Amino acid sequence: MSYNLLKGKKGIIFGALNELSIAWKVAERAREEGAEIILTNTPAAIRFGQIDELAAKTNSIVIPADATKEADLENVVVSALKHFGGKFDFILHSIGMSLNVRKGLTYDNLNYEYYKKTIDISALSFHKILQTCYKHDAINQWGSVLGLSYIAAQRTLYGYNDMADAKAILESIARSFGYIYGREKKVRVNTISQSPTPTTAGSGVKGFGGLMDFTERMSPLGNASADECADYCVTLFSDLTRKITMQNLFHDGGFSNIGMSAKAMHVYSKNLENDTDGD
Ligand SMILES: NC(=O)c1ccc[n+]([C@@H]2O[C@H](COP(=O)([O-])OP(=O)(O)OC[C@H]3O[C@@H](n4cnc5c(N)ncnc54)[C@H](O)[C@@H]3O)[C@@H](O)[C@H]2O)c1
Repeated sequence: MSYNLLKGKKGIIFGALNELSIAWKVAERAREEGAEIILTNTPAAIRFGQIDELAAKTNSIVIPADATKEADLENVVVSALKHFGGKFDFILHSIGMSLNVRKGLTYDNLNYEYYKKTIDISALSFHKILQTCYKHDAINQWGSVLGLSYIAAQRTLYGYNDMADAKAILESIARSFGYIYGREKKVRVNTISQSPTPTTAGSGVKGFGGLMDFTERMSPLGNASADECADYCVTLFSDLTRKITMQNLFHDGGFSNIGMSAKAMHVYSKNLENDTDGD
């Protein structure tokens, strides 16, 4: 259902790889709500993913950019200003990648070159996007910039590895830049801390199937899907949330505030008798 929440608004969406991507769902929902959008991803993701299909579906252009490269981001922002004929209203940063996770290197055996890449791709790129937009004064007053985070930024979860550190920085950037952007330009900056979601990046996390089952059982409302995340993003791009900024907003069915649920206790108790591993 459409509520025309983004009628007349324009935005840039980073990180749609394929139809599982959270950014893909956000692009579709933003269009449904009346927004005009530009899509961007790395040249490799554009080649190997299905972003062109999304561009056709949403009547949008695709601008290639590696979000770690300032020159690429400069090109995205300048091209967007030209394409839209002026400033735009929202940005989704839906970018994450860890070579340590991909290569199965654990947190006590990190490759530091990969670690730096994780931080650069998954966190510093958020700052680089914000700084580029700020310097060009590219975002309208009451505009909204969103990044996607995960609860491992704040609590340790097995297997999330160096991405936990990247997400902690991402959330901090939302606060630090949110203060400046809010004070100077009335632009909002927030992160959404999303449930585990079966996407290409999500499924790469060690033990992902077990994790999804655990959070589903623990959350009174169950895991939040990518479609539901897109709904939430749309509200945060809309004018209905103009005083929300510098926040990390949990979108996780209640998982972040629960210690133990009946459903999880049920499974845990059943397995206690057979438990031989005390870790
Ligand atoms: N899937 C989950 O369980 C989950 C949970 C919470 C938060 N998130 C976050 O949501 C965001 C989107 O991930 P997703 O789950 O939709 O997976 P996804 O694999 O569909 O998206 C990740 C995207 O990051 C892009 N990317 C990687 N390196 C890049 C670079 N250098 N420049 C530009 N783009 C680059 C990829 O091309 C891809 O499109 C990520 O920040 C992720 O950490 C995911």
